[in-house]
Amino acid sequence: MSSSSSSFKFKCFQCFFMLHVFAATSILSDNSSFNNFLDSAKSPEVFDWMISIRRKIHENPELGFEEFETSELIRSELDKMDIPYKHPVAITGVIGFIGTGLPPFVALRADMDALPIQEMVEWEHKSKIAGKMHACGHDAHVAMLLAAAKILKHHEKDIQGTVVLVFQPAEEGNGGAKKIVNSGALENVTAIFGLHIAPELPVGEVASRSGPILAGSGRFEAKISGKGGHAALPQHSIDPILAASNMVISLQYLVSREADPLDSQVVTVSKFQGGSAFNVIPDYVTIGGTFRAFSKQSFNHLRQRIEQIIIGQAAVHRCNAIIDFLDEVKPGYPPTINNGDLHEDFVNVAVNMLGINKVNSAVTPSMGAEDFSFYQEVMPGYWFWLGVQNALHKRLESLHSPYLEINEDGLPYGAALHASLASSYLLKHQQNVPGVERRYHGEI
Ligand SMILES: *[C@@H]1O[C@H](CO)[C@@H](O)[C@H](O)[C@H]1NC(C)=O
Ligand SMILES: *[C@@H]1O[C@H](CO)[C@@H](O)[C@H](O)[C@H]1NC(C)=O
Ligand SMILES: [Zn+2]
Ligand SMILES: [Zn+2]
Repeated sequence: MSSSSSSFKFKCFQCFFMLHVFAATSILSDNSSFNNFLDSAKSPEVFDWMISIRRKIHENPELGFEEFETSELIRSELDKMDIPYKHPVAITGVIGFIGTGLPPFVALRADMDALPIQEMVEWEHKSKIAGKMHACGHDAHVAMLLAAAKILKHHEKDIQGTVVLVFQPAEEGNGGAKKIVNSGALENVTAIFGLHIAPELPVGEVASRSGPILAGSGRFEAKISGKGGHAALPQHSIDPILAASNMVISLQYLVSREADPLDSQVVTVSKFQGGSAFNVIPDYVTIGGTFRAFSKQSFNHLRQRIEQIIIGQAAVHRCNAIIDFLDEVKPGYPPTINNGDLHEDFVNVAVNMLGINKVNSAVTPSMGAEDFSFYQEVMPGYWFWLGVQNALHKRLESLHSPYLEINEDGLPYGAALHASLASSYLLKHQQNVPGVERRYHGEI
């Protein structure tokens, strides 16, 4: 996730989920082999291997679109499991296939990139690369998806359709997901699931919700040009500092006066750069920041109004302004909006596997953002939090902290959920595919 502050408020445990327990049982009992994915994921054969992969990746973190060794490690593990894949997709991305090779296609996604953070945790598998760290848990995401692949491959003959494994580069700010979508590699996929580790959530628990769960996120940068001169003779200058100051103030009215108070939004000016002397009015000032909203409509409204305010305030103060939303270098992320039908499927699978009081199905949304939303622009998608809380810790470390330490005992749950979500989706949807031509049709 790109920037985080997640809060988990368990308010709605009781509710109506008993209904779903029975539905879940009926879906999964269609094939008993899907029931013991969690046992498989916890077995030493899968668990020890998964943890060693996670630690290997943790020791060698790579930034977005530079995940060359991570990608190579993934491919060598897929080779060992005899899982075919496409590579390269979006530079370092790898897309694997398990099942019949025929529809329906369901995707599982793991992001692979690390952050430019110096790890401060002293442990045996500390990052060996100065200034880089898997501080968002994407090392664990890769390991869990590989473990899910191992489990699914073991049951490949039962899979009625195709599971598409998406190992994606560059989630942290560079929109690797958008590049994967644009590659066309997922064009026949009808649903996608993704998860994210949650250091505040106990092991064996999950949290999610139907509808918006993470905000859409955009960036802006503006250069406000005036006319520099002597600070004691303002009449000969056009002061860009005063103009930019008014912009910062005016931008505050977007959320406080224009937005629906029940529709959470953020506009933060986080950069303000200009001037270098006590007695000189500078030629120009640059400002920049982020804006967040939970609907496309609110997001687009903010974007349009930020531009109007900056351009308009520049004119009021006789300055010129140019504004850049960095669409090419760092594309804004749309809001992450969970599909309602997939939410029901998720609750069924998770309650069946973990028990009713380990599943928070109405988590408070976060103003953080995820590029998983690019998949959701082109197909129904579902994203959830997975508990990896380290019970020994007194202080809870958040994502992107140099002190983040995850509890690896949470990983089998993620692997098993991946495997179960994909296989139950395929079981549920195979009847809906009319007249599928089997691969061996012509040979019989
Ligand atoms: C369930 O698994 C068994 C044994 O692996 C297999 O023969 C059967 O075809 C599967 N049934 C379904 C509905 O996938
Ligand atoms: C999607 O399905 C169509 C029709 O079967 C096929 O021609 C195409 O190659 C498929 N695309 C991918 C990326 O597999
Ligand atoms: Zn992340
Ligand atoms: Zn992150």
